[in-house]
Amino acid sequence: MAVDLGPSGPDGIAEAAATLRLPRRDAPAESGPIMHAVVRNARWEGARVWIIRLAAVDDGWPGWRSALDAPEVERMNRFVRAEDRHRFGVTRAMLRKLLAEVLGRPPPAVTFAVNRFGRPRLADDPGTGLCFSVSHSGDYALIGLAFHRPIGVDVERARPGTTLAEVAPTICSPAELQEVSRLGPGERTADLYRRWTIKEAYIKALGVGLSYPPGNVGLSRRTDAGSDQAWTIGVRGRWTLILPDIAPGYSAAVTVFGANQPVDLRRMDGSMP
Ligand SMILES: CC(C)(COP(=O)(O)OP(=O)(O)OC[C@H]1O[C@@H](n2cnc3c(N)ncnc32)[C@H](O)[C@@H]1OP(=O)(O)O)[C@@H](O)C(=O)NCCC(=O)NCCS
Repeated sequence: MAVDLGPSGPDGIAEAAATLRLPRRDAPAESGPIMHAVVRNARWEGARVWIIRLAAVDDGWPGWRSALDAPEVERMNRFVRAEDRHRFGVTRAMLRKLLAEVLGRPPPAVTFAVNRFGRPRLADDPGTGLCFSVSHSGDYALIGLAFHRPIGVDVERARPGTTLAEVAPTICSPAELQEVSRLGPGERTADLYRRWTIKEAYIKALGVGLSYPPGNVGLSRRTDAGSDQAWTIGVRGRWTLILPDIAPGYSAAVTVFGANQPVDLRRMDGSMP
């Protein structure tokens, strides 16, 4: 099933649409234990998003390293800083755990492939159409899962002393830059992190990475609505946007294809599921 992302209008998302060829809903079911497990595990409408405090995984699942495969361990060990190794490793282990629960396999038996922009997907999906997106920053990770529905998540920890002024022209269109310049200095930084995370979540849902200039992504803000409702990403009415509260100093966004999709936020900060 090619997902209809609408006209490739101001966003020019035709290429992105081409990358979003998902398994057909009516794809022939595979027989065997895997498919039985898939059927047994309830599917859900919309999306589920886990907000994960990384330290909670160490406490509740000290053996998380055993979920990783050899290339992931190698990749983890290539990070110079211990905190970067930990952030990557814990997040990937949790991604495996959540996918494994849906697929009815042990976490190490989940296999990944990547598209040409680096977006990971299931290498051997037995017909579930399971889509996922991952982000990690500071002490937190976000993992979003949806069936037959592109999803993108992004979390960013604000870096102290950073105003984002230098990256604003990359994130924003000229019209957005004008809007942002009318804000006071404190509000401006928060607004830029907001724009950054929303656009990155959207670009991740499309799977095209930064080959797609964030400044070209259509993002509009209304001043007469509450925070989630204030923003519109992409073609109006085609995407659901949620802005979850993570912790002080963090900005986050979740984009799910389709209007008014339910998004079930699950906080994992004290105990494991
Ligand atoms: C890779 C990218 C998609 C996100 O990178 P990031 O913000 O540094 O990191 P995040 O933690 O949010 O996301 C990383 C995850 O995105 C996923 N990812 C990688 N490429 C992806 C792609 N093309 N599409 C969707 N997801 C992708 C992977 O799961 C990756 O996790 P992993 O490294 O543990 O395997 C890409 O957009 C990037 O390099 N961004 C740099 C940040 C930036 O300059 N943003 C501009 C403001 S809009």
